[in-house]
Amino acid sequence: MKRIVILISGRGSNMEALLNAEMPARVAAVISNDPAAKGLATARSRGVASAVVEHRAFGDRAAFDAALADEIDRYQPDLVVLAGFMRILTETFVNRYRGRMLNIHPSLLPAFPGLETHRRALEAGARIHGCTVHFVTAALDHGPIVIQAAVPVLPDDTEASLAARVLRQEHRIYPQAVRWFCEGRLKLGPDDRVRLTEARTPDGALVSPPLDT
Ligand code: GAR
Repeated sequence: MKRIVILISGRGSNMEALLNAEMPARVAAVISNDPAAKGLATARSRGVASAVVEHRAFGDRAAFDAALADEIDRYQPDLVVLAGFMRILTETFVNRYRGRMLNIHPSLLPAFPGLETHRRALEAGARIHGCTVHFVTAALDHGPIVIQAAVPVLPDDTEASLAARVLRQEHRIYPQAVRWFCEGRLKLGPDDRVRLTEARTPDGALVSPPLDT
């Protein structure tokens, strides 16, 4: 059984999707940089150990990241899962967990790294938007891509309606990626390329707006 540590900063709906998913893994702890993160209460109510490493208490990123790594390592995880963890991480921290840290981002990377992805997709007139799970490297909201889900952008979409459509897919692809990792099927190669064994072949395309025929 693999051990997972989940890092959150807020609501924790991706964390909850992971807690609800069946996988050969145990969530050893949920850690937040913000004591007010709603997801902490959810974790506690599910009987999962939780901890806070408050970034405001540290003078710089390096000191925060060192304290965070100490807390993470107490649980000896095989995998660190960033689930709405809204801190920029230092290269030292990222390298420490190379090949065993995943992130989910609410856009089809490499489009729209950073914040306010749904607003920016709407403003850009994108017809297709989505979400990405990737291994974490030093590049912000980037890194070798594991899985993506695409959704149509509809003419009357608001930021909220688009975010909700994307979030539903986040809750599907994140547990899938974590399950692959825990089954030993997903690895990051030394060349920074993703190796996924026994994956099915895609069987269609999302075209938005749809073709007439
Ligand atoms: C999710 O949409 C996640 O993709 C995003 O924050 C939200 C957290 O929601 N992450 C990022 O923007 C990372 N750059 P959640 O707390 O309900 O899982």
